[in-house]
Amino acid sequence: MSPKVERNIQGKTALITGAGSGIGLALALALASEGTRLILVGRSRDKLNAVAKQIKTSAVLDTVCHACNLGVPSQLEDLIESLEHSFESIDMLIHSAGDFCMGSFSSLSVDKLDHLFRVNLRAPFRLTQGLLPLLRANQGEVVFINSTAALHASPNWAAYSAIKAGLEMLADSIRTELDEQGIRVLSVYPGRTATPMQKEIHRLENRTYNPEELLQPEDIADQIVHILRMPKTAEVADLVILPRRKKSPASH
Ligand SMILES: NC(=O)c1ccc[n+]([C@@H]2O[C@H](COP(=O)([O-])OP(=O)(O)OC[C@H]3O[C@@H](n4cnc5c(N)ncnc54)[C@H](OP(=O)(O)O)[C@@H]3O)[C@@H](O)[C@H]2O)c1
Repeated sequence: MSPKVERNIQGKTALITGAGSGIGLALALALASEGTRLILVGRSRDKLNAVAKQIKTSAVLDTVCHACNLGVPSQLEDLIESLEHSFESIDMLIHSAGDFCMGSFSSLSVDKLDHLFRVNLRAPFRLTQGLLPLLRANQGEVVFINSTAALHASPNWAAYSAIKAGLEMLADSIRTELDEQGIRVLSVYPGRTATPMQKEIHRLENRTYNPEELLQPEDIADQIVHILRMPKTAEVADLVILPRRKKSPASH
Protein backbone atom coordinates (compact mmCIF):
# COMPACT_ATOMS: atom_id res chain seq x y z
CA MET A 1 0.00 0.00 0.00
CA SER A 2 1.48 3.38 -0.98
CA PRO A 3 1.77 6.01 1.78
CA LYS A 4 -0.93 8.66 2.11
CA VAL A 5 0.33 11.91 0.58
CA GLU A 6 -1.41 15.15 1.53
CA ARG A 7 -0.64 18.19 -0.61
CA ASN A 8 1.33 20.96 1.00
CA ILE A 9 -0.42 24.27 0.39
CA GLN A 10 2.24 26.33 2.14
CA GLY A 11 3.39 29.16 -0.14
CA LYS A 12 0.46 28.65 -2.55
CA THR A 13 -1.71 31.66 -3.41
CA ALA A 14 -5.43 31.78 -2.57
CA LEU A 15 -7.92 34.48 -3.52
CA ILE A 16 -10.96 34.63 -1.23
CA THR A 17 -13.97 36.82 -1.96
CA GLY A 18 -16.09 37.87 1.00
CA ALA A 19 -12.99 37.51 3.18
CA GLY A 20 -14.03 40.30 5.56
CA SER A 21 -16.52 38.25 7.54
CA GLY A 22 -18.24 34.93 8.15
CA ILE A 23 -17.19 31.88 6.17
CA GLY A 24 -14.69 33.84 4.02
CA LEU A 25 -12.97 35.21 7.12
CA ALA A 26 -12.75 31.72 8.69
CA LEU A 27 -11.23 30.42 5.45
CA ALA A 28 -8.69 33.24 5.38
CA LEU A 29 -7.53 32.41 8.91
CA ALA A 30 -7.47 28.65 8.26
CA LEU A 31 -5.45 29.02 5.05
CA ALA A 32 -3.08 31.53 6.66
CA SER A 33 -2.31 28.98 9.37
CA GLU A 34 -1.32 26.56 6.55
CA GLY A 35 1.16 29.17 5.27
CA THR A 36 -0.92 30.12 2.21
CA ARG A 37 -0.46 33.60 0.71
CA LEU A 38 -3.77 35.41 0.55
CA ILE A 39 -5.55 37.87 -1.71
CA LEU A 40 -8.58 39.15 0.19
CA VAL A 41 -11.55 40.65 -1.67
CA GLY A 42 -14.66 42.34 -0.27
CA ARG A 43 -16.55 45.61 -0.29
CA SER A 44 -15.15 47.02 2.95
CA ARG A 45 -11.43 47.83 2.89
CA ASP A 46 -11.48 48.33 6.69
CA LYS A 47 -12.72 44.79 7.27
CA LEU A 48 -10.13 43.32 4.90
CA ASN A 49 -7.32 45.32 6.53
CA ALA A 50 -8.42 44.06 9.96
CA VAL A 51 -8.23 40.44 8.68
CA ALA A 52 -4.80 41.09 7.14
CA LYS A 53 -3.61 42.54 10.46
CA GLN A 54 -4.88 39.49 12.34
CA ILE A 55 -3.03 37.20 9.90
CA LYS A 56 0.19 39.17 10.21
CA THR A 57 0.29 38.66 13.97
CA SER A 58 0.07 34.87 13.55
CA ALA A 59 2.16 34.30 10.41
CA VAL A 60 4.80 36.05 8.32
CA LEU A 61 2.81 36.31 5.12
CA ASP A 62 2.17 38.91 2.45
CA THR A 63 -1.56 39.53 2.34
CA VAL A 64 -3.02 41.63 -0.44
CA CYS A 65 -6.39 43.38 0.03
CA HIS A 66 -8.67 44.48 -2.82
CA ALA A 67 -11.79 46.48 -1.97
CA CYS A 68 -14.27 45.75 -4.74
CA ASN A 69 -18.03 45.72 -5.07
CA LEU A 70 -18.36 42.52 -7.09
CA GLY A 71 -21.89 43.47 -8.08
CA VAL A 72 -20.57 46.41 -10.14
CA PRO A 73 -19.27 45.04 -13.47
CA SER A 74 -16.69 47.84 -14.01
CA GLN A 75 -15.16 47.24 -10.54
CA LEU A 76 -15.02 43.50 -11.25
CA GLU A 77 -13.18 44.09 -14.54
CA ASP A 78 -10.72 46.45 -12.80
CA LEU A 79 -10.06 43.74 -10.19
CA ILE A 80 -9.36 41.10 -12.85
CA GLU A 81 -7.03 43.46 -14.72
CA SER A 82 -5.14 44.36 -11.57
CA LEU A 83 -4.71 40.69 -10.59
CA GLU A 84 -3.51 39.80 -14.11
CA HIS A 85 -0.79 42.44 -13.77
CA SER A 86 0.29 41.47 -10.26
CA PHE A 87 0.21 37.65 -10.29
CA GLU A 88 1.53 34.91 -12.57
CA SER A 89 -0.68 32.25 -11.02
CA ILE A 90 -3.47 31.71 -8.53
CA ASP A 91 -3.70 28.27 -6.91
CA MET A 92 -7.07 28.57 -5.17
CA LEU A 93 -10.00 30.80 -6.11
CA ILE A 94 -12.64 30.74 -3.39
CA HIS A 95 -15.98 32.46 -3.97
CA SER A 96 -17.53 33.20 -0.58
CA ALA A 97 -18.93 36.71 -1.15
CA GLY A 98 -22.68 36.62 -1.26
CA ASP A 99 -25.83 38.47 -0.41
CA PHE A 100 -29.38 37.28 0.29
CA CYS A 101 -32.94 38.47 0.08
CA MET A 102 -36.02 36.80 1.46
CA GLY A 103 -39.76 37.32 1.40
CA SER A 104 -42.88 35.86 -0.14
CA PHE A 105 -42.77 35.47 -3.92
CA SER A 106 -45.62 37.96 -4.38
CA SER A 107 -43.57 40.70 -2.69
CA LEU A 108 -40.03 39.92 -3.96
CA SER A 109 -38.74 42.76 -6.12
CA VAL A 110 -37.13 42.04 -9.47
CA ASP A 111 -34.46 44.61 -8.56
CA LYS A 112 -33.41 42.39 -5.67
CA LEU A 113 -33.34 39.37 -7.97
CA ASP A 114 -31.11 41.31 -10.38
CA HIS A 115 -28.83 42.32 -7.50
CA LEU A 116 -28.49 38.70 -6.33
CA PHE A 117 -27.81 37.63 -9.90
CA ARG A 118 -24.94 40.15 -10.16
CA VAL A 119 -23.32 39.36 -6.80
CA ASN A 120 -24.04 35.64 -6.31
CA LEU A 121 -23.81 34.32 -9.87
CA ARG A 122 -22.48 36.80 -12.43
CA ALA A 123 -19.48 37.76 -10.26
CA PRO A 124 -18.28 34.16 -9.60
CA PHE A 125 -18.84 33.37 -13.31
CA ARG A 126 -16.86 36.36 -14.60
CA LEU A 127 -14.12 36.24 -11.94
CA THR A 128 -13.45 32.55 -12.64
CA GLN A 129 -13.47 33.20 -16.39
CA GLY A 130 -11.20 36.26 -16.10
CA LEU A 131 -8.71 34.46 -13.87
CA LEU A 132 -8.62 31.20 -15.87
CA PRO A 133 -5.13 31.86 -17.31
CA LEU A 134 -3.79 32.35 -13.75
CA LEU A 135 -5.62 29.20 -12.55
CA ARG A 136 -4.33 27.14 -15.47
CA ALA A 137 -0.73 28.18 -14.75
CA ASN A 138 -0.51 25.88 -11.70
CA GLN A 139 -3.56 23.65 -12.20
CA GLY A 140 -5.52 25.55 -9.55
CA GLU A 141 -8.72 24.91 -7.68
CA VAL A 142 -12.06 26.72 -7.67
CA VAL A 143 -14.35 26.63 -4.63
CA PHE A 144 -17.92 27.95 -4.69
CA ILE A 145 -19.61 28.56 -1.34
CA ASN A 146 -23.14 27.64 -2.29
CA SER A 147 -26.00 26.83 0.12
CA THR A 148 -28.42 24.03 0.95
CA ALA A 149 -30.99 26.54 -0.39
CA ALA A 150 -29.81 25.42 -3.85
CA LEU A 151 -30.79 21.85 -3.04
CA HIS A 152 -34.09 22.19 -1.16
CA ALA A 153 -36.91 24.61 -1.91
CA SER A 154 -38.62 26.41 0.95
CA PRO A 155 -41.07 29.32 1.28
CA ASN A 156 -39.68 32.89 1.16
CA TRP A 157 -36.40 31.94 -0.52
CA ALA A 158 -37.36 31.85 -4.23
CA ALA A 159 -34.83 34.44 -5.44
CA TYR A 160 -31.86 33.27 -3.33
CA SER A 161 -32.55 29.57 -4.04
CA ALA A 162 -32.96 30.12 -7.77
CA ILE A 163 -29.66 32.00 -8.04
CA LYS A 164 -27.79 29.50 -5.83
CA ALA A 165 -29.21 26.64 -7.95
CA GLY A 166 -27.72 28.46 -10.95
CA LEU A 167 -24.38 28.56 -9.14
CA GLU A 168 -24.60 24.80 -8.62
CA MET A 169 -24.97 24.25 -12.38
CA LEU A 170 -22.21 26.76 -13.11
CA ALA A 171 -19.82 24.73 -10.92
CA ASP A 172 -20.93 21.39 -12.35
CA SER A 173 -20.68 22.66 -15.93
CA ILE A 174 -17.24 24.20 -15.67
CA ARG A 175 -15.96 21.08 -13.86
CA THR A 176 -16.70 19.08 -17.02
CA GLU A 177 -14.54 21.51 -19.03
CA LEU A 178 -11.74 22.25 -16.58
CA ASP A 179 -11.16 18.70 -15.36
CA GLU A 180 -8.94 17.84 -18.31
CA GLN A 181 -6.84 20.94 -17.56
CA GLY A 182 -6.20 19.61 -14.05
CA ILE A 183 -8.40 22.25 -12.36
CA ARG A 184 -10.61 20.89 -9.58
CA VAL A 185 -13.99 22.49 -8.82
CA LEU A 186 -15.70 22.12 -5.44
CA SER A 187 -19.20 23.25 -4.43
CA VAL A 188 -19.84 23.64 -0.72
CA TYR A 189 -23.44 23.55 0.52
CA PRO A 190 -23.62 24.75 4.13
CA GLY A 191 -26.79 24.84 6.17
CA ARG A 192 -27.44 27.70 8.59
CA THR A 193 -24.08 29.01 9.77
CA ALA A 194 -23.27 31.45 12.58
CA THR A 195 -22.24 34.55 10.59
CA PRO A 196 -23.43 38.17 10.36
CA MET A 197 -25.63 37.15 7.41
CA GLN A 198 -27.40 34.49 9.46
CA LYS A 199 -27.82 36.88 12.38
CA GLU A 200 -29.64 39.26 10.05
CA ILE A 201 -31.77 36.42 8.65
CA HIS A 202 -32.83 35.49 12.20
CA ARG A 203 -33.75 39.13 12.86
CA LEU A 204 -35.92 39.26 9.73
CA GLU A 205 -37.55 35.95 10.69
CA ASN A 206 -38.22 37.24 14.24
CA ARG A 207 -36.26 34.33 15.68
CA THR A 208 -33.86 34.32 18.61
CA TYR A 209 -30.29 34.08 17.36
CA ASN A 210 -28.36 31.38 19.21
CA PRO A 211 -25.11 31.07 17.23
CA GLU A 212 -23.94 28.10 19.28
CA GLU A 213 -26.84 26.05 17.84
CA LEU A 214 -25.72 26.68 14.27
CA LEU A 215 -22.90 25.45 12.08
CA GLN A 216 -19.63 27.24 12.86
CA PRO A 217 -17.75 28.92 9.98
CA GLU A 218 -14.45 27.51 11.31
CA ASP A 219 -15.76 23.95 10.89
CA ILE A 220 -16.64 24.64 7.25
CA ALA A 221 -13.21 26.20 6.70
CA ASP A 222 -11.44 23.17 8.21
CA GLN A 223 -13.30 20.78 5.90
CA ILE A 224 -12.46 22.89 2.84
CA VAL A 225 -8.78 23.07 3.76
CA HIS A 226 -8.76 19.29 4.21
CA ILE A 227 -10.25 18.86 0.72
CA LEU A 228 -7.79 21.35 -0.83
CA ARG A 229 -4.94 19.32 0.67
CA MET A 230 -6.12 16.06 -0.88
CA PRO A 231 -3.81 14.57 -3.51
CA LYS A 232 -4.66 15.50 -7.09
CA THR A 233 -5.62 11.87 -7.73
CA ALA A 234 -8.87 12.56 -5.83
CA GLU A 235 -11.65 15.09 -6.24
CA VAL A 236 -14.53 16.06 -3.97
CA ALA A 237 -17.19 17.68 -6.15
CA ASP A 238 -19.81 18.50 -3.50
CA LEU A 239 -19.63 19.01 0.24
CA VAL A 240 -22.93 19.26 2.12
CA ILE A 241 -22.44 20.32 5.72
CA LEU A 242 -25.31 20.82 8.17
CA PRO A 243 -25.77 22.01 11.73
CA ARG A 244 -26.42 19.06 14.00
CA ARG A 245 -29.33 19.63 16.35
CA LYS A 246 -28.82 18.50 19.92
CA LYS A 247 -31.31 15.80 20.81
CA SER A 248 -33.31 16.48 23.94
CA PRO A 249 -32.90 13.74 26.63
CA ALA A 250 -36.52 12.67 26.00
CA SER A 251 -35.76 11.83 22.37
CA HIS A 252 -33.09 9.19 23.17
N1 LIG B 1 -24.51 32.04 6.92
C1 LIG B 1 -25.25 31.05 6.44
O1 LIG B 1 -26.14 30.50 7.12
C2 LIG B 1 -24.98 30.55 5.04
C3 LIG B 1 -25.51 29.31 4.70
C4 LIG B 1 -25.29 28.82 3.43
C5 LIG B 1 -24.53 29.55 2.52
N2 LIG B 1 -24.03 30.76 2.86
C6 LIG B 1 -23.24 31.47 1.86
O2 LIG B 1 -21.95 31.66 2.39
C7 LIG B 1 -21.33 32.78 1.76
C8 LIG B 1 -20.71 33.66 2.83
O3 LIG B 1 -21.75 34.18 3.64
P1 LIG B 1 -21.57 34.44 5.19
O4 LIG B 1 -22.62 33.70 5.88
O5 LIG B 1 -20.15 34.26 5.56
O6 LIG B 1 -22.04 35.97 5.24
P2 LIG B 1 -21.31 37.31 5.70
O7 LIG B 1 -20.62 37.13 6.99
O8 LIG B 1 -22.35 38.36 5.56
O9 LIG B 1 -20.19 37.50 4.58
C9 LIG B 1 -20.52 37.84 3.28
C10 LIG B 1 -19.32 38.50 2.67
O10 LIG B 1 -19.64 38.78 1.29
C11 LIG B 1 -19.17 40.07 1.00
N3 LIG B 1 -20.00 40.70 -0.01
C12 LIG B 1 -21.35 40.80 -0.02
N4 LIG B 1 -21.73 41.48 -1.10
C13 LIG B 1 -20.61 41.82 -1.78
C14 LIG B 1 -20.35 42.52 -2.96
N5 LIG B 1 -21.34 43.07 -3.68
N6 LIG B 1 -19.07 42.68 -3.35
C15 LIG B 1 -18.06 42.18 -2.62
N7 LIG B 1 -18.24 41.48 -1.49
C16 LIG B 1 -19.51 41.32 -1.08
C17 LIG B 1 -19.25 40.87 2.28
O11 LIG B 1 -18.28 41.90 2.21
P3 LIG B 1 -18.42 43.26 3.05
O12 LIG B 1 -18.56 42.79 4.46
O13 LIG B 1 -17.18 44.01 2.81
O14 LIG B 1 -19.64 43.94 2.56
C18 LIG B 1 -18.92 39.80 3.33
O15 LIG B 1 -17.56 39.77 3.62
C19 LIG B 1 -22.43 33.47 0.97
O16 LIG B 1 -22.27 33.13 -0.40
C20 LIG B 1 -23.71 32.86 1.50
O17 LIG B 1 -24.74 32.84 0.54
C21 LIG B 1 -24.22 31.27 4.13
